[in-house]
Amino acid sequence: KLGALAGGSLLLPAGWERIGYAQTVPNKFTLPFRRPPVLQPVRSDAQTDYYEITMRKAQVEILPGKLSEIWSYNGITPGPTIIQRVGRQSVVRFINNTLGRPTSTHLHGMASLPQYDGYAEDLIFPGYYKDYYYPNNRAATIWYHDHAIHHTARNVYMGLAGMYIVQDQTELDLPLPKGEYDVPLIIQDKQFATNGKLIFDDQGEKSQFGDVIVVNGIPWPRMEVARRKYRFRALNGSISRSYQLSLSTGDPLIVIGTDAGLKPAPVAVQSFRFGMAERYEFVIDFSKYPIGTQIVLKNTSPKNNEDYSGRTNAIMRFDVVRDATDDSSIPSQLRTFTPLLASQAVRTREFRYERTNGLWVTNGKVWDANRVDAAPQFGDIEIWRLYNNSGGWFHPIHLHLIDCQILDRNGKAPFPYEVGWKDVFYVGENESVRVIGKFGPNTGKYMQHCHNTVHEDHDMMNQFEVLQNSLASQSGNIGQDPI
Ligand code: C2O
Ligand code: CU
Repeated sequence: KLGALAGGSLLLPAGWERIGYAQTVPNKFTLPFRRPPVLQPVRSDAQTDYYEITMRKAQVEILPGKLSEIWSYNGITPGPTIIQRVGRQSVVRFINNTLGRPTSTHLHGMASLPQYDGYAEDLIFPGYYKDYYYPNNRAATIWYHDHAIHHTARNVYMGLAGMYIVQDQTELDLPLPKGEYDVPLIIQDKQFATNGKLIFDDQGEKSQFGDVIVVNGIPWPRMEVARRKYRFRALNGSISRSYQLSLSTGDPLIVIGTDAGLKPAPVAVQSFRFGMAERYEFVIDFSKYPIGTQIVLKNTSPKNNEDYSGRTNAIMRFDVVRDATDDSSIPSQLRTFTPLLASQAVRTREFRYERTNGLWVTNGKVWDANRVDAAPQFGDIEIWRLYNNSGGWFHPIHLHLIDCQILDRNGKAPFPYEVGWKDVFYVGENESVRVIGKFGPNTGKYMQHCHNTVHEDHDMMNQFEVLQNSLASQSGNIGQDPI
């Protein structure tokens, strides 16, 4: 409304649209797609690659012709992508340079030792750095982001997030699309003031929504594609927005991966629900479309999460512009997969997520670093029932350290696209999700929380402690099948 009032007499440059907050944004699908750069190690030895990432403020052009201050990894958002191999270790030095605030870096989806996991209260203060050791124990699309206690949402929103891809030889030997046809899509929503300043407004500790969709930091980009198959690694890097992704052609997305790596088998879906911090990998085969075809990656999330403008109903566009050879294919079996059975579990725990007296609570409690809410023995298989009886809110629940499988969702089989190993579980309104996992490969305290990071900050987070027992000295890729 504001935009319409202010906009009547002002001429806009071609290709610009006036929206709320008297703000202008580029028209959808005008800016070229790009990928975050891949970070090179500063040195390597026989087992380890050493990386350096500086956390600093930077001024970058997100809306054309305007500068926005971001809080960045190496001056960009998303930060650079790290690509690593199973069998090699990474050491990443996170240097807190000009941010002026403490940080803690979590590599989401990595079974790091507790001291390298980005525990929310294990802060790197301005002027300090910390070296994080990462074991790269299995192939998956994961991501690093800030986890500072009570400030995670703002820090991530302002830019502190990046992708981290772990590969292994078994996966590389599959005929899936590779190289330039293996594409990261970090999807976020942002809100800008007229002058380009990023607006963080969590609406009274509830949620941060933006009306500008960015993919890899570009508003509604346009990606030129060839007539062949592409593998997309999608990460919902938003603070509070979930998406329902589909293609404007009505053709299916072939989902091949979940949070913790490839699915057992590909599954074609018309659309899928995509909560914060989840990763889904899918293949689109553009070979059936003639050159000149434009395909929009749509968001049809039913409520569109409080956006009434319709701007968030599109993510990006693929423009088919050329022919290309394609020797890739999608195997009918992607990995060896053994379902964990409810009968293997030694116990079930219950976690209830709700808003009570203006607080985001788990089983009625807020975060307390001195309290441990679950203490599984190393190697135990447990069922955790995550549920949400409160209307109006959904909570994507993340467990650090372990990968789990969904046993059932409201008593029914999980959605076909979420079958596989996962570390984030979408608990929708009035949903009850039973997940099963094996506790290891490390002992110690790890967090569990809602990945609406506004909820996490205020204070829908708790911790579990994996207790040492005689099994704990055995090493191995616990919780995952060897591929
Ligand atoms: Cu992606 Cu504890 O977070
Ligand atoms: Cu939540």
